[in-house]
Amino acid sequence: MRSVMAIKRTRQLKPLSSEHHQALLVAFQLKKGLAGHGESAGAPKDLPGLLALARRFENTLFHTHTKTEEEVLGRHLSPSDMKRLKFEHAEMERLLGAAPHARPADMRQALAAFADLLERHIRWEERELFTHCEADLNESELARVGHELEKRLVISRNDTKPANKP
Ligand SMILES: [Fe+2]
Repeated sequence: MRSVMAIKRTRQLKPLSSEHHQALLVAFQLKKGLAGHGESAGAPKDLPGLLALARRFENTLFHTHTKTEEEVLGRHLSPSDMKRLKFEHAEMERLLGAAPHARPADMRQALAAFADLLERHIRWEERELFTHCEADLNESELARVGHELEKRLVISRNDTKPANKP
């Protein structure tokens, strides 16, 4: 199967895709860590460490990323795509919010569900949503979107890796 990140992206939407690389790494590390193979993925091996990884990702990248997508891309999306975008963002936030207060088994379940949805969500965005945007937006709309993304997204602003550094 072709890797989701191998899709050729226009320059204007690349800041979002760069953050998706980071997000997919976090999802991979959470999955490996929960399966007991954290070390092979450079991930924490215990539950508190995995929770800290998810929270760090949430605070440094996730909130800004999802808000930016909704506000910058939102006006160009169909009502059903916008509904799905917002629903999945909210669902991931709910899972992350529930994890710290849960018993260990429920915390594992919340982190696993979060990692799973994060991967599926990014696959949808990269394969369908962004591809539609690239086809539907004219040059000046795309340029405006690209400019906004560069101003607002964490990776563009800092040119660093804000999530977990393996
Ligand atoms: Fe995204």
